[in-house]
Amino acid sequence: MHNQNDGLWEWSVFWHSNQLHSCMPVEEGHNTLAPVWRDFFQVLPPGATILDLGTGNGSLAAQAVSVSESKSSPFSIHGVDLADIEPSRYVAAADKLLAEVSFHPRTAMEHLPFEAQSFDAIGSQYAIEYSNIQESVGEVFRVLKPGGRVRFLLHANDGVLKDRCRQQYDQAQTILASDLFLVTTELLAALIEAETKNTQTAIQEAEASILRVKNTFDMLQERFSDEEDRSLIDNLFAAVRSLPGLRKSYDLQALTKMNEDIQLLLRAQAKRLLAMQQAALDDIKVNEMAEQLRLLKFECVSLERASTATGAPCLGYWLSGEKPLIHEVSQ
Ligand SMILES: C[S@@+](CC[C@H](N)C(=O)[O-])C[C@H]1O[C@@H](n2cnc3c(N)ncnc32)[C@H](O)[C@@H]1O
Repeated sequence: MHNQNDGLWEWSVFWHSNQLHSCMPVEEGHNTLAPVWRDFFQVLPPGATILDLGTGNGSLAAQAVSVSESKSSPFSIHGVDLADIEPSRYVAAADKLLAEVSFHPRTAMEHLPFEAQSFDAIGSQYAIEYSNIQESVGEVFRVLKPGGRVRFLLHANDGVLKDRCRQQYDQAQTILASDLFLVTTELLAALIEAETKNTQTAIQEAEASILRVKNTFDMLQERFSDEEDRSLIDNLFAAVRSLPGLRKSYDLQALTKMNEDIQLLLRAQAKRLLAMQQAALDDIKVNEMAEQLRLLKFECVSLERASTATGAPCLGYWLSGEKPLIHEVSQ
């Protein structure tokens, strides 16, 4: 596991869970980006080699596997990520799809462990913008075959995902700055003490502890009363609230550890949400990236806004291109 300050700890923590993706805009139950990716993979010949940069738990790679199943010869699909990923262990729902992918954990996209001209297609879904873009695009060019295709989905500075990350980051910071975890630890100890000793003092202390936890929850609920997106808050509160009920099955040490783990997960969550905001590109940066592709003589470079089916919120940018065939470069 990474240490907490190496910049990737938050991702390793996140991917050691049963989540296929980290920021998927879902509209009416559909992954609105999936058809664009399906088209990207569909045009590839049977047996094509594909690389997913910053693959996480393999959300994009799994889509490539789905398309591969319709081909006479399967794609060879690789996914790299700097974090300690192990998707086939953690993502039960997609284990069959993910078993078809070769994952490369702890692998920087700025230094890819592949021979030059290895891949027919390279994709990145909300990932390359987290890296040193200049270096990663150079590596993409190196490992892409002549005639190979690239498609990147990139966070936009004015996109809906950045907005959601900002809101959730603020929520996480507010909870971390409160005394929620402290008063919960005290409550767990006080409840167990009261039940073990059954003295008037211990019972009074437990009652006072219950009141402190209630006050903290009330204060936080009041603070979050206008929040539209309550997913982080509700999940976190449910996890903390479940702890006292577990004291028949676990001792104080185990319960305290669970409380600390919830706090640690929230810290990781906050770091990840900050990283996502910082990775988002504005029009100037994304145009520089497109220009880098053109300077490398990529053809058919296209840059467009990614939007939902209803068209309203911006989901980022699509940036695509094709590496020229060798004879065209040397002309
Ligand atoms: C927002 S997540 C996207 C994951 C996945 N593509 C998805 O759509 O669910 C960004 C990923 O990029 C990875 N990452 C960040 N910098 C990287 C780098 N320099 N090289 C490789 N992976 C990197 C992170 O570890 C994280 O898993």
